Amino acid sequence: MNLSDPFSRFRTGLLAALLFASGVIAWAADAPTLKGAYREDFQVGVAVNRSIVTGTPSPRRVAALVAQDTELAKAQFNQISPENDLKWQLIHPREGPDGYDFGPADAFVNFGLSNRMEVVGHTLVWHSQTPNWVFAGTNPPPAVIDAPAVVAASTNAPGTNRPGPGRFGPGGFGRYDGPRASREELLARMRDHIHTVVGRYRGKVKCWDVVNEALADGPATNVLRKSLWLEIVGPDFIAKAFQYAHEADPDAILRYNDYGLENPVKRRKLITLIKTLQEQKVPIHAIGSQAHVNVGTTFETMDQTLTELATLGLAIHITELDVNGAQGGQQGFGADTASNAATTGGGLVSDADRKLADAYAGIFRAFLKHRDTVKLVTFWGVNDAVSWRANGKPLLFNGTNQPKPAFDAVIAEAKKTAAGK
Ligand code: GLA
Repeated sequence: MNLSDPFSRFRTGLLAALLFASGVIAWAADAPTLKGAYREDFQVGVAVNRSIVTGTPSPRRVAALVAQDTELAKAQFNQISPENDLKWQLIHPREGPDGYDFGPADAFVNFGLSNRMEVVGHTLVWHSQTPNWVFAGTNPPPAVIDAPAVVAASTNAPGTNRPGPGRFGPGGFGRYDGPRASREELLARMRDHIHTVVGRYRGKVKCWDVVNEALADGPATNVLRKSLWLEIVGPDFIAKAFQYAHEADPDAILRYNDYGLENPVKRRKLITLIKTLQEQKVPIHAIGSQAHVNVGTTFETMDQTLTELATLGLAIHITELDVNGAQGGQQGFGADTASNAATTGGGLVSDADRKLADAYAGIFRAFLKHRDTVKLVTFWGVNDAVSWRANGKPLLFNGTNQPKPAFDAVIAEAKKTAAGK
């Protein structure tokens, strides 16, 4: 824009409005942005799918909408997380020297770097979306294999962000029950995976979810999730993963990431786990709180959550924020997030937009109150149409990338805080 030409701003605005109306761009140049409104407080990021970073249409999203999604991601956010493409199942589907598929992950990282966005890696060690070969070996499995806690759960299908065949469903990514690797074999595979993936993006990916969802739901006595990582390696699989990631990139911020931390029982488990890791001098630098919450989540709940998490003395990253607006959505925040996608079919509550806006206002008020420790807030998806909880319309933009009242509410909270500074 030529600053000495008084009409240049007008013409730029007009052009932006025309492009906006025609759907070529999703966001007018002068409109408020999340990254702008919160620039003094924390980074605001978004999980992106493969279509967004490659500009490729998919069977459920035509090219014009994908172009809008991409524009919105660039306009509104200054950090990105990969919705699927860095998960083990996608980046490392096969054993052996040719076992890695780096293409989509490279595209994701390059998209972030070329748009000057902070790039987060998600996720290195998880019980879900990990191929069976990782756990396979020659040791007979135990005679009785416990059923997984969530059987019919849904999560993102590979390469999409639609609920897929399930964390434990068909497709080879469920709970493997054949002959198992030894502890040494599994640790060697973990080390190779972490060293290769973190090493490849060293200096580019600044922050990693090293271990995802290692905590169990349910009673306080049941601390760690019964995963194959735990059963084969033992509880130190968590410390080992952080150690390997730190070796691969000593400058990276390493996160432990989990859901349901708004639940006091789960939160206490998290605090116990992290304190133990800290006592063992495990290189862990941030807590990732997924925050897949529902419209009933209040300022008080989030304030209490952040107050207690802050006692660990680590940065807090809100890693997968969405607020389910549907009846039958996450009723209690103890529920496994995997079961939420399956339960959002009950229809929207009345005045859903208003309720969602109120919930988001309270949640962001709490983030702002804790802005000394909250360093990053990442939304799990750019808009309702591409959300894994699409039925719950949980995000700030609708399926055609128009801002909802919740967007205005989130911007308004930042302005109120800025005015009070
Ligand atoms: C968890 C994972 C995410 C995503 C969501 C649901 O929160 O961390 O990667 O799979 O489940 O899709």
